[in-house]
Amino acid sequence: SDRASDFASLAAEDRVAARLYTDPEIFDWEMEKIFYSTWVWVAHESEIPDAGSFKMSHIGLQPVIVNRDRKGNFNVLLNRCRHRGASVCEVPKGKANGFTCPYHSWSYSLEGNLRGIPYPDGYEGVAEKRDLPLQRLRVESYNGLIFATFRTDIEPLADFLGDAKLWIDRFMKQGAGFPVKVQGEHKFRFDGNWKIQLENTTDGYHFPIVHRSWMASVDAETADMLSFMTDEEAVTHALGNGHSVAIMVPEHVDLEDDDGTEELQERFRPIIDELSETMPPEQVRRIVRSMHGAGYNLNLFPNLSLSMSFFRVLRPISVNETEIQHMALGLDGGPESVNRERLRIHEHFQGPFGFGTSDDSEAWDRVQRGAVANPEMPILVNRGLGREVAADEGWKTSHVTDETGMRESYAMWKRMMNDDN
Ligand code: FES
Ligand code: FE
Repeated sequence: SDRASDFASLAAEDRVAARLYTDPEIFDWEMEKIFYSTWVWVAHESEIPDAGSFKMSHIGLQPVIVNRDRKGNFNVLLNRCRHRGASVCEVPKGKANGFTCPYHSWSYSLEGNLRGIPYPDGYEGVAEKRDLPLQRLRVESYNGLIFATFRTDIEPLADFLGDAKLWIDRFMKQGAGFPVKVQGEHKFRFDGNWKIQLENTTDGYHFPIVHRSWMASVDAETADMLSFMTDEEAVTHALGNGHSVAIMVPEHVDLEDDDGTEELQERFRPIIDELSETMPPEQVRRIVRSMHGAGYNLNLFPNLSLSMSFFRVLRPISVNETEIQHMALGLDGGPESVNRERLRIHEHFQGPFGFGTSDDSEAWDRVQRGAVANPEMPILVNRGLGREVAADEGWKTSHVTDETGMRESYAMWKRMMNDDN
């Protein structure tokens, strides 16, 4: 259609129009063509550990409830009563037997079935309960990550994730033998388009520049660990379907792979001593080498990044506003002191008073202000275009400071926006 070719012309291989961040019509199409047409991450299984556990989440602009029922199945339900459309849940997280709408008390089971209607005689011959469940979405999970989609006709989740699965598996190894759990979270909003965050996850180029103040605040060993600008093994792979991975600490790509030569960081000495009293040295090494999380950021199109030791979730609010949620990860059943230290590391960078969040969001605000002022001026995504190579796995690969991940995201964006289905 004309519309589709309009969009195509806005995103070239090496640049995109700033209008992609500012045009409300493009935003509406993105909700339809991207967020309501693919698998979107909604929860980690550790957030809903028991039968009846639930959390609120979103797919694009649509509020959903994610829960675990008595059979242990995950359900994702549109948070909208079938009577007159009120939301049936406003509690961010908790435990329940079901959901009751506050307006006229229609009540629904964890599976979304309509169980009760007060004063039902008015509905005789008019409506049947079995015809009015909460809208159920298709749901599938991979290695603890729960995704849902409005679409019944798209590929299984595993196919959509494709080569990203290997990187999810490696990421979860930071549990060092324990399952990974969400151990705290915070949210904030910035005045900018969601794709500014999408681009940021694999933007290795900005790291030592925007985060200079953070770099100046850490010990020499940590600074050295993240000195990837001139490290040839620090690369970004484009994994297909919009997904990409930016490797910042090449020696931590696979945390199980330990040749014993890496010295443990001195700052963790008290923890090393404590753990060594009860654990074998290999396990202590594994836990301490995993303290900063995986050695990379994995961008899962369109809304989740698995970044070092946390999840970063983006939620589009409007063309000019985005919510970011950071979830700190810990070891489920692991040592208290380790989980505490991991939280401190998270707060230092990602926390509300941390260096990373404030520095990044200031830069994103500036990008958006520039786009609003001049929407036809292009945004460049061409860094490293001339030095991309095809890796053995078939991935497009370049240095971690290159914009290979952004190009992968925009190739998928373009494909989905042009898709007629
Ligand atoms: Fe939910 Fe009436 S709107 S019961
Ligand atoms: Fe950053």
